[in-house]
Amino acid sequence: MNSKRVEVELGARSYPIFISEDFQLENFEQTIGQRRFYVITDSHVAPLYGDQLSVLPNRLGQSIVPAGESSKSLQQAEIIYGDLIRAKADRKTVIVALGGGVVGDLAGFIASTYMRGVPFVQMPTSLLAMVDSSVGGKVAVNHPLGKNMIGHFYQPESVLMATSVLKTLPQRELQAGMAEVIKYGIIMDAEFFAWLEQNVEKLLALDPQAIASTLEKSVCCKAQVVGEDEKEGGVRATLNLGHTFGHAEEVLAGYGRVLHGEAVAAGMVAAMATSVALGQASEDDLRRCRALILKFKLPITLTQSHRQTEFWTAMEGDKKSLSGVVNFVLSRGIGGCDLPKAIQRTFIENVLTSLR
Ligand code: GLY
Repeated sequence: MNSKRVEVELGARSYPIFISEDFQLENFEQTIGQRRFYVITDSHVAPLYGDQLSVLPNRLGQSIVPAGESSKSLQQAEIIYGDLIRAKADRKTVIVALGGGVVGDLAGFIASTYMRGVPFVQMPTSLLAMVDSSVGGKVAVNHPLGKNMIGHFYQPESVLMATSVLKTLPQRELQAGMAEVIKYGIIMDAEFFAWLEQNVEKLLALDPQAIASTLEKSVCCKAQVVGEDEKEGGVRATLNLGHTFGHAEEVLAGYGRVLHGEAVAAGMVAAMATSVALGQASEDDLRRCRALILKFKLPITLTQSHRQTEFWTAMEGDKKSLSGVVNFVLSRGIGGCDLPKAIQRTFIENVLTSLR
Protein backbone atom coordinates (compact mmCIF):
# COMPACT_ATOMS: atom_id res chain seq x y z
CA MET A 1 0.00 0.00 0.00
CA ASN A 2 1.35 3.41 -0.95
CA SER A 3 1.52 5.96 1.79
CA LYS A 4 -1.21 8.63 1.61
CA ARG A 5 -0.86 12.23 2.71
CA VAL A 6 -3.64 14.63 3.67
CA GLU A 7 -3.03 18.27 4.65
CA VAL A 8 -4.77 20.19 7.41
CA GLU A 9 -4.70 23.75 6.05
CA LEU A 10 -4.27 26.22 8.90
CA GLY A 11 -1.89 28.80 7.48
CA ALA A 12 1.39 28.80 9.39
CA ARG A 13 0.10 25.95 11.57
CA SER A 14 -0.79 23.63 8.66
CA TYR A 15 0.35 20.04 9.04
CA PRO A 16 0.37 16.71 7.21
CA ILE A 17 -1.39 13.49 8.10
CA PHE A 18 0.46 10.39 6.84
CA ILE A 19 -1.45 7.12 6.38
CA SER A 20 0.59 4.00 5.65
CA GLU A 21 0.48 0.29 6.40
CA ASP A 22 3.19 0.47 9.09
CA PHE A 23 4.57 3.53 10.86
CA GLN A 24 7.04 5.00 8.40
CA LEU A 25 10.05 6.17 10.31
CA GLU A 26 11.20 8.35 7.41
CA ASN A 27 8.05 10.46 7.81
CA PHE A 28 8.70 10.60 11.55
CA GLU A 29 12.34 11.58 11.12
CA GLN A 30 11.40 14.16 8.52
CA THR A 31 9.07 15.81 11.04
CA ILE A 32 11.42 15.60 14.02
CA GLY A 33 14.65 16.49 12.18
CA GLN A 34 17.57 16.87 14.57
CA ARG A 35 15.37 17.63 17.57
CA ARG A 36 15.04 15.34 20.55
CA PHE A 37 11.68 13.74 21.26
CA TYR A 38 9.89 12.34 24.31
CA VAL A 39 7.23 9.63 24.02
CA ILE A 40 4.01 9.51 26.04
CA THR A 41 2.18 6.21 25.70
CA ASP A 42 0.14 3.78 27.79
CA SER A 43 0.47 0.35 29.33
CA HIS A 44 -1.38 -1.38 26.46
CA VAL A 45 0.43 0.29 23.61
CA ALA A 46 4.00 0.46 25.00
CA PRO A 47 4.64 -3.32 24.81
CA LEU A 48 3.18 -3.48 21.28
CA TYR A 49 4.67 -0.42 19.56
CA GLY A 50 6.99 1.34 22.02
CA ASP A 51 10.05 -0.38 20.53
CA GLN A 52 9.52 1.16 17.11
CA LEU A 53 10.65 4.56 18.36
CA SER A 54 13.22 3.38 20.90
CA VAL A 55 15.59 2.51 18.02
CA LEU A 56 15.93 6.18 17.11
CA PRO A 57 18.95 7.94 18.61
CA ASN A 58 17.32 11.23 19.60
CA ARG A 59 14.66 9.68 21.86
CA LEU A 60 14.99 11.43 25.22
CA GLY A 61 12.72 9.15 27.22
CA GLN A 62 9.25 7.75 27.63
CA SER A 63 6.39 7.97 30.13
CA ILE A 64 3.91 5.09 30.26
CA VAL A 65 0.54 5.89 31.81
CA PRO A 66 -2.01 3.28 32.92
CA ALA A 67 -4.35 2.50 30.00
CA GLY A 68 -7.82 4.02 30.42
CA GLU A 69 -9.75 7.25 30.81
CA SER A 70 -8.60 7.82 34.40
CA SER A 71 -5.14 8.77 33.05
CA LYS A 72 -6.61 11.87 31.42
CA SER A 73 -6.21 13.88 34.61
CA LEU A 74 -4.29 16.85 35.97
CA GLN A 75 -2.64 14.47 38.47
CA GLN A 76 -1.27 12.32 35.64
CA ALA A 77 -0.17 15.44 33.76
CA GLU A 78 1.70 16.62 36.84
CA ILE A 79 3.57 13.30 37.07
CA ILE A 80 4.64 13.63 33.45
CA TYR A 81 5.73 17.29 33.85
CA GLY A 82 8.08 15.89 36.52
CA ASP A 83 9.32 13.17 34.14
CA LEU A 84 9.98 15.81 31.47
CA ILE A 85 11.85 18.13 33.82
CA ARG A 86 14.00 15.25 35.13
CA ALA A 87 14.73 14.16 31.54
CA LYS A 88 15.78 17.78 30.80
CA ALA A 89 13.18 18.20 28.06
CA ASP A 90 13.51 21.74 26.73
CA ARG A 91 11.41 24.06 24.55
CA LYS A 92 12.47 22.30 21.37
CA THR A 93 11.78 18.78 22.61
CA VAL A 94 8.97 17.22 20.59
CA ILE A 95 6.31 15.34 22.56
CA VAL A 96 5.13 12.22 20.75
CA ALA A 97 1.65 10.89 21.62
CA LEU A 98 1.71 7.16 20.86
CA GLY A 99 -1.68 5.65 21.70
CA GLY A 100 -5.43 6.10 21.53
CA GLY A 101 -7.57 9.12 22.31
CA VAL A 102 -6.68 9.27 26.01
CA VAL A 103 -2.95 9.39 25.30
CA GLY A 104 -3.38 11.87 22.45
CA ASP A 105 -5.51 14.26 24.51
CA LEU A 106 -3.25 13.99 27.57
CA ALA A 107 0.04 14.27 25.68
CA GLY A 108 -1.32 17.17 23.60
CA PHE A 109 -2.43 18.94 26.77
CA ILE A 110 1.02 18.45 28.30
CA ALA A 111 2.70 19.68 25.09
CA SER A 112 0.47 22.76 25.10
CA THR A 113 1.44 23.70 28.66
CA TYR A 114 4.96 22.40 29.32
CA MET A 115 7.28 25.43 29.14
CA ARG A 116 4.33 27.39 27.70
CA GLY A 117 4.06 25.02 24.77
CA VAL A 118 6.36 22.60 22.96
CA PRO A 119 5.85 20.87 19.60
CA PHE A 120 4.00 17.57 19.40
CA VAL A 121 3.31 14.73 17.00
CA GLN A 122 0.32 12.41 17.09
CA MET A 123 0.76 8.68 16.42
CA PRO A 124 -2.79 7.37 17.01
CA THR A 125 -3.25 3.63 17.53
CA SER A 126 -7.05 3.30 17.80
CA LEU A 127 -9.54 3.83 15.00
CA LEU A 128 -11.34 6.52 17.00
CA ALA A 129 -8.12 8.45 17.52
CA MET A 130 -7.14 8.08 13.86
CA VAL A 131 -10.39 9.31 12.37
CA ASP A 132 -11.22 11.93 14.98
CA SER A 133 -9.24 12.95 18.05
CA SER A 134 -5.69 13.00 16.64
CA VAL A 135 -6.69 15.54 13.98
CA GLY A 136 -7.82 19.07 14.78
CA GLY A 137 -5.93 20.01 17.93
CA LYS A 138 -8.49 19.47 20.67
CA VAL A 139 -6.37 18.56 23.69
CA ALA A 140 -7.67 18.22 27.24
CA VAL A 141 -7.74 16.47 30.57
CA ASN A 142 -10.87 15.63 32.53
CA HIS A 143 -12.01 17.25 35.77
CA PRO A 144 -13.86 15.08 38.34
CA LEU A 145 -16.96 17.15 37.49
CA GLY A 146 -16.75 16.86 33.72
CA LYS A 147 -15.00 15.33 30.74
CA ASN A 148 -12.51 17.43 28.71
CA MET A 149 -13.19 20.44 30.95
CA ILE A 150 -9.57 21.67 31.02
CA GLY A 151 -7.94 22.03 27.64
CA HIS A 152 -6.89 23.95 24.57
CA PHE A 153 -6.90 24.00 20.82
CA TYR A 154 -3.28 23.10 20.13
CA GLN A 155 -2.36 21.62 16.77
CA PRO A 156 0.22 18.85 16.29
CA GLU A 157 3.13 19.22 13.84
CA SER A 158 2.09 16.06 12.07
CA VAL A 159 -0.08 12.97 12.47
CA LEU A 160 1.31 9.55 11.56
CA MET A 161 -1.03 6.61 11.32
CA ALA A 162 -0.45 2.96 10.44
CA THR A 163 -3.32 0.71 9.37
CA SER A 164 -1.54 -2.43 10.65
CA VAL A 165 -1.92 -1.37 14.29
CA LEU A 166 -5.68 -1.90 14.01
CA LYS A 167 -4.99 -5.67 13.99
CA THR A 168 -4.31 -5.51 17.73
CA LEU A 169 -7.33 -3.33 18.50
CA PRO A 170 -10.18 -5.18 20.26
CA GLN A 171 -13.11 -5.74 17.88
CA ARG A 172 -15.46 -3.74 20.10
CA GLU A 173 -13.20 -0.68 19.88
CA LEU A 174 -12.88 -1.07 16.12
CA GLN A 175 -16.67 -1.09 15.81
CA ALA A 176 -16.97 1.91 18.13
CA GLY A 177 -14.48 3.87 16.00
CA MET A 178 -16.71 3.22 12.98
CA ALA A 179 -19.40 5.41 14.55
CA GLU A 180 -17.26 8.51 13.96
CA VAL A 181 -16.57 7.31 10.40
CA ILE A 182 -20.29 6.91 9.67
CA LYS A 183 -20.79 10.39 11.13
CA TYR A 184 -18.75 11.97 8.30
CA GLY A 185 -21.01 10.30 5.77
CA ILE A 186 -24.15 11.53 7.49
CA ILE A 187 -23.06 15.13 8.01
CA MET A 188 -21.19 15.87 4.79
CA ASP A 189 -20.67 13.06 2.29
CA ALA A 190 -23.57 10.96 0.97
CA GLU A 191 -21.27 9.18 -1.50
CA PHE A 192 -18.98 8.06 1.33
CA PHE A 193 -22.02 6.86 3.30
CA ALA A 194 -23.12 4.75 0.30
CA TRP A 195 -19.56 3.41 -0.07
CA LEU A 196 -19.58 2.37 3.60
CA GLU A 197 -22.88 0.54 3.06
CA GLN A 198 -21.13 -1.54 0.37
CA ASN A 199 -17.94 -2.21 2.34
CA VAL A 200 -18.95 -3.23 5.86
CA GLU A 201 -17.60 -6.80 5.62
CA LYS A 202 -14.25 -5.65 4.22
CA LEU A 203 -13.89 -3.04 6.93
CA LEU A 204 -14.73 -5.42 9.77
CA ALA A 205 -12.21 -7.87 8.29
CA LEU A 206 -9.62 -5.05 8.22
CA ASP A 207 -9.06 -5.23 4.48
CA PRO A 208 -5.99 -2.95 4.14
CA GLN A 209 -7.24 -1.06 1.06
CA ALA A 210 -10.72 -0.52 2.49
CA ILE A 211 -9.29 0.64 5.83
CA ALA A 212 -6.80 2.99 4.16
CA SER A 213 -9.56 4.52 2.01
CA THR A 214 -11.76 4.94 5.09
CA LEU A 215 -8.99 6.65 7.03
CA GLU A 216 -8.15 8.92 4.11
CA LYS A 217 -11.78 9.91 3.52
CA SER A 218 -12.43 10.46 7.23
CA VAL A 219 -9.37 12.62 7.83
CA CYS A 220 -10.10 14.58 4.61
CA CYS A 221 -13.56 15.37 6.03
CA LYS A 222 -12.11 16.30 9.41
CA ALA A 223 -9.30 18.37 7.86
CA GLN A 224 -11.80 20.27 5.71
CA VAL A 225 -13.99 21.15 8.70
CA VAL A 226 -11.06 22.09 10.96
CA GLY A 227 -9.49 24.13 8.14
CA GLU A 228 -12.72 26.16 7.90
CA ASP A 229 -13.37 26.53 11.63
CA GLU A 230 -10.47 25.62 13.89
CA LYS A 231 -11.96 26.84 17.18
CA GLU A 232 -15.55 25.63 16.73
CA GLY A 233 -17.19 28.98 16.12
CA GLY A 234 -19.43 27.43 13.47
CA VAL A 235 -19.21 24.42 11.18
CA ARG A 236 -16.88 22.40 13.45
CA ALA A 237 -19.80 21.98 15.84
CA THR A 238 -21.45 19.74 13.23
CA LEU A 239 -18.83 17.10 14.10
CA ASN A 240 -20.90 16.69 17.25
CA LEU A 241 -23.81 14.97 15.48
CA GLY A 242 -25.28 12.50 17.97
CA HIS A 243 -22.90 13.66 20.69
CA THR A 244 -25.45 15.58 22.82
CA PHE A 245 -27.47 12.38 23.27
CA GLY A 246 -24.31 10.29 23.42
CA HIS A 247 -22.81 12.46 26.13
CA ALA A 248 -25.85 11.90 28.39
CA GLU A 249 -25.71 8.17 27.67
CA GLU A 250 -22.01 8.00 28.62
CA VAL A 251 -22.42 10.08 31.78
CA LEU A 252 -25.39 8.10 33.08
CA ALA A 253 -24.12 4.65 32.12
CA GLY A 254 -20.74 5.46 33.65
CA TYR A 255 -17.68 6.17 31.49
CA GLY A 256 -16.10 2.97 30.23
CA ARG A 257 -19.29 0.88 30.36
CA VAL A 258 -20.58 2.32 27.12
CA LEU A 259 -17.78 3.23 24.72
CA HIS A 260 -17.84 6.75 23.28
CA GLY A 261 -18.49 5.44 19.76
CA GLU A 262 -21.34 3.23 20.97
CA ALA A 263 -23.01 6.18 22.68
CA VAL A 264 -22.49 8.33 19.58
CA ALA A 265 -23.97 5.60 17.34
CA ALA A 266 -27.22 5.50 19.33
CA GLY A 267 -27.11 9.30 19.57
CA MET A 268 -26.86 9.65 15.77
CA VAL A 269 -29.99 7.53 15.33
CA ALA A 270 -31.74 9.78 17.86
CA ALA A 271 -30.54 12.88 15.98
CA MET A 272 -31.70 11.46 12.65
CA ALA A 273 -35.10 10.51 14.13
CA THR A 274 -35.44 14.08 15.46
CA SER A 275 -34.58 15.40 11.98
CA VAL A 276 -37.27 13.16 10.48
CA ALA A 277 -39.81 14.31 13.08
CA LEU A 278 -39.01 17.91 12.11
CA GLY A 279 -39.52 17.08 8.44
CA GLN A 280 -35.97 17.83 7.37
CA ALA A 281 -34.83 14.25 6.69
CA SER A 282 -36.71 11.25 5.31
CA GLU A 283 -37.78 7.94 6.82
CA ASP A 284 -35.41 6.32 4.33
CA ASP A 285 -32.45 8.33 5.74
CA LEU A 286 -33.35 7.02 9.19
CA ARG A 287 -33.69 3.45 7.92
CA ARG A 288 -30.28 3.58 6.21
CA CYS A 289 -28.59 5.07 9.30
CA ARG A 290 -30.02 2.40 11.53
CA ALA A 291 -29.12 -0.38 9.10
CA LEU A 292 -25.50 0.76 8.68
CA ILE A 293 -24.97 1.26 12.39
CA LEU A 294 -26.41 -2.20 13.08
CA LYS A 295 -24.16 -3.77 10.43
CA PHE A 296 -21.17 -2.46 12.38
CA LYS A 297 -22.70 -4.16 15.47
CA LEU A 298 -23.29 -0.83 17.18
CA PRO A 299 -26.33 0.11 19.27
CA ILE A 300 -29.23 1.99 17.71
CA THR A 301 -31.07 2.84 20.94
CA LEU A 302 -29.93 4.66 24.05
CA THR A 303 -29.88 2.43 27.12
CA GLN A 304 -30.59 5.21 29.59
CA SER A 305 -34.11 6.35 30.38
CA HIS A 306 -34.54 9.68 28.61
CA ARG A 307 -37.53 10.59 30.77
CA GLN A 308 -35.45 10.95 33.91
CA THR A 309 -34.43 14.48 34.85
CA GLU A 310 -30.81 13.29 34.99
CA PHE A 311 -30.82 12.58 31.25
CA TRP A 312 -31.78 16.15 30.38
CA THR A 313 -29.45 17.55 33.07
CA ALA A 314 -26.59 15.56 31.54
CA MET A 315 -27.41 16.99 28.11
CA GLU A 316 -27.47 20.50 29.64
CA GLY A 317 -24.03 19.76 31.12
CA ASP A 318 -22.63 19.06 27.66
CA LYS A 319 -20.12 21.72 26.55
CA LYS A 320 -22.20 22.39 23.43
CA SER A 321 -25.12 23.54 25.58
CA LEU A 322 -25.10 27.24 26.31
CA SER A 323 -26.86 28.94 29.25
CA GLY A 324 -28.89 25.79 29.98
CA VAL A 325 -30.23 25.59 26.39
CA VAL A 326 -29.61 22.15 24.91
CA ASN A 327 -28.43 22.26 21.30
CA PHE A 328 -28.57 19.43 18.78
CA VAL A 329 -26.89 18.92 15.42
CA LEU A 330 -29.61 17.73 13.05
CA SER A 331 -29.48 16.14 9.64
CA ARG A 332 -30.75 17.57 6.35
CA GLY A 333 -30.78 14.07 4.87
CA ILE A 334 -27.71 11.87 4.52
CA GLY A 335 -24.80 14.06 3.39
CA GLY A 336 -25.96 17.33 4.94
CA CYS A 337 -26.69 18.89 8.31
CA ASP A 338 -27.44 22.11 10.20
CA LEU A 339 -25.45 23.98 12.81
CA PRO A 340 -26.60 23.04 16.34
CA LYS A 341 -29.96 24.38 17.35
CA ALA A 342 -32.16 24.31 20.45
CA ILE A 343 -35.04 21.83 20.50
CA GLN A 344 -37.78 21.66 23.15
CA ARG A 345 -37.44 18.97 25.78
CA THR A 346 -40.91 17.49 25.20
CA PHE A 347 -40.26 17.20 21.46
CA ILE A 348 -37.02 15.29 22.08
CA GLU A 349 -38.65 13.07 24.69
CA ASN A 350 -41.43 12.13 22.28
CA VAL A 351 -38.92 11.25 19.56
CA LEU A 352 -36.90 9.10 21.95
CA THR A 353 -40.07 7.34 23.14
CA SER A 354 -40.92 6.52 19.52
CA LEU A 355 -37.51 4.84 19.13
CA ARG A 356 -38.02 2.42 22.04
N1 GLY B 1 -14.31 15.55 17.95
C1 GLY B 1 -14.88 16.72 17.43
C2 GLY B 1 -13.90 17.76 17.08
O1 GLY B 1 -12.72 17.50 17.00
O2 GLY B 1 -14.27 18.90 16.89
